[in-house]
Amino acid sequence: MGHNLLEGKKGIIFGALDDQSMAWKVAEKAVEEGAKITLTNAPVALRMGQIQELADSLNAEVIPADATSEEDLENLLSKSMEILGGPVDFILHSIGMSVNVRKNKPYTELNYSWMEKTFDVSAISFHKVMQTAMKLNAVNEWGSILALSYIAAQRTFPDYSEMAESKALLESFARSFGYHWAVKNKVRVNTISQSPTMTTAGQGVKGFHEFFDYADKMSPLGNATADDCADYCITLFSDYTRMVTMQNLYHDGGFSSMGMNPAILDK
Ligand SMILES: NC(=O)c1ccc[n+]([C@@H]2O[C@H](COP(=O)([O-])OP(=O)(O)OC[C@H]3O[C@@H](n4cnc5c(N)ncnc54)[C@H](O)[C@@H]3O)[C@@H](O)[C@H]2O)c1
Repeated sequence: MGHNLLEGKKGIIFGALDDQSMAWKVAEKAVEEGAKITLTNAPVALRMGQIQELADSLNAEVIPADATSEEDLENLLSKSMEILGGPVDFILHSIGMSVNVRKNKPYTELNYSWMEKTFDVSAISFHKVMQTAMKLNAVNEWGSILALSYIAAQRTFPDYSEMAESKALLESFARSFGYHWAVKNKVRVNTISQSPTMTTAGQGVKGFHEFFDYADKMSPLGNATADDCADYCITLFSDYTRMVTMQNLYHDGGFSSMGMNPAILDK
């Protein structure tokens, strides 16, 4: 049951691929909380994923956009404003993909053109979304922009490979763009650093299941689920967090503050 936290608000959700996706849960909760939304994903994901099913259930339109293409983003933002009846109040960037991880390239032998693609899809796309939205005046005052990150931006998780640098870049874009947008028209920009979560992107990382269990034991509250993440996103889209900006917010059951947990030693 919703609490109308997003009543009257409009938003755009990137990255719902299937019902495991974090973006899928955010879309469902945003509508439950009273928002009107458009959904978007890369054209290839529209063919392979189940986003249309989600759109039908939420009465939302799907607008294809490769998040690395400024032209696609202009089209997405303009169409969303047409459909929703004006600028939006929130945007979720829930996009990640590493070519080197997909192709099992060890971190010390990375292919640099694949790395550039990884950075473009996973991080620079966030800047492109914001720059295009600012140019088109597509976000209302006190709007909220969010992207999903991971603690590998700060600490070393060897199998996360070049995604660690992608997330560091993503978080830095939130701080830098957050400054400019706050000054221009009070739009806030944050990243949420989420626990390991059983999704298509998550499970693409080598040893993910073992690592998921490790993080679950290390975190005093256990891993935050995709549903928990969606709840947190809703609070950050709501008017209750209007002064939070330029932050990387850990949403991880306490993992980021732990040094050692006896629960792991006992095992
Ligand atoms: N699953 C985890 O353990 C975990 C933990 C922390 C952060 N995250 C982050 O959460 C976000 C969402 O991932 P998820 O775990 O829900 O997995 P997911 O696989 O469901 O979502 C990733 C999405 O990125 C989309 N995408 C890829 N290339 C794109 C492009 N060029 N243009 C537009 N969209 C594109 C995919 O189609 C997919 O919908 C990612 O940024 C991911 O890094 C995931």
